[in-house]
Amino acid sequence: MNLSFTAPFKTSKLSIAVLVVSSLFVSPLVFAAGGGDAPEIKRQEWSFSGFFGRYDKAQLQRGFGVYNEVCSSCHGLKLLSYRNLAEKGGPEFSKEQALAIAKEATVIDGVDDEGEPLERPGKLSDRFVPPFKNEAAARSVNNGAYPPDLSVMAKARTFHRHVPWYTEPYYWLYDITTGYEEKGVDYLYALLMGYKTAPRGVVLNDGMSYNTVFPGHQIAMAAPLSEDAVEYADGTPTTLDQHARDVSAFLAWTAEPHLNARKDMGKRVLLYLVILALLLYLAKRSVWSRVKH
Ligand code: HEC
Repeated sequence: MNLSFTAPFKTSKLSIAVLVVSSLFVSPLVFAAGGGDAPEIKRQEWSFSGFFGRYDKAQLQRGFGVYNEVCSSCHGLKLLSYRNLAEKGGPEFSKEQALAIAKEATVIDGVDDEGEPLERPGKLSDRFVPPFKNEAAARSVNNGAYPPDLSVMAKARTFHRHVPWYTEPYYWLYDITTGYEEKGVDYLYALLMGYKTAPRGVVLNDGMSYNTVFPGHQIAMAAPLSEDAVEYADGTPTTLDQHARDVSAFLAWTAEPHLNARKDMGKRVLLYLVILALLLYLAKRSVWSRVKH
């Protein structure tokens, strides 16, 4: 008896690969229609996204301007030093500019003979001075809410897509194959752009604002940005979108200051592997050329 099974059609390895890869790219479009009450947070184009992205230093400088003039009155950046502003791979301000920024801050450095705090202007080596002395002080002027430190906020936040659970693996693969690692930055941008008037029937608590992407939709931070919140020195038009984009990019850098170096190293490794593969192939051909077959 012949028990062997023959497939009714021929499948080559290549066609299976094509099927898998194409389904990977098509599926997010098909499943994106799923919905909840919150709007989908959209994937934005960033200069630093993708395998070969890099920070745009002009954008980081503008983003610092927005942070400095708007956000810094409530949010600290305690992991950042003023000297970082002049380092490679960041906003790359000149040393003099970074020093001028540092000098605007007042640093408490020990106590004098009478036990009073000694104040001095900031230096390049100082960490960013926080806006409040402690959490209680911050809460007391923010209606009881605490404005969190923003140093690594771009890495600390993410979002969940409103898609059926069984499509999640597709998204994981899609994100990996397209090098998507800016979910936190996309959330920050969406948060800053997400202030709307509350829909009818939604009652906001005292001092709260309605935000479409913040979990629960009630946030204790009033919309911090407006069309002309900050003047840009480089002449870039000031729009809400531009401000939100620039400050989000700046916070992406504070959360990952070595991204440029990391991606540059990645490029070199890829180049090395390509050259190595070529050499190995040529070596193999030359070694086997002496063997008769
Ligand atoms: C007047 C004070 C104030 C200013 C100015 C301000 N914030 Fe906030 N921010 C807050 C408070 C308070 C919270 C906590 C909100 C809450 O928990 O409901 C907050 C929360 C946040 C969060 C965390 C949201 C989350 O998912 O938990 C981010 C991110 C943020 N602010 C970014 C910014 C940025 C960027 C700016 C400048 C463009 C800014 N904030 C300006 C007070 C402020």
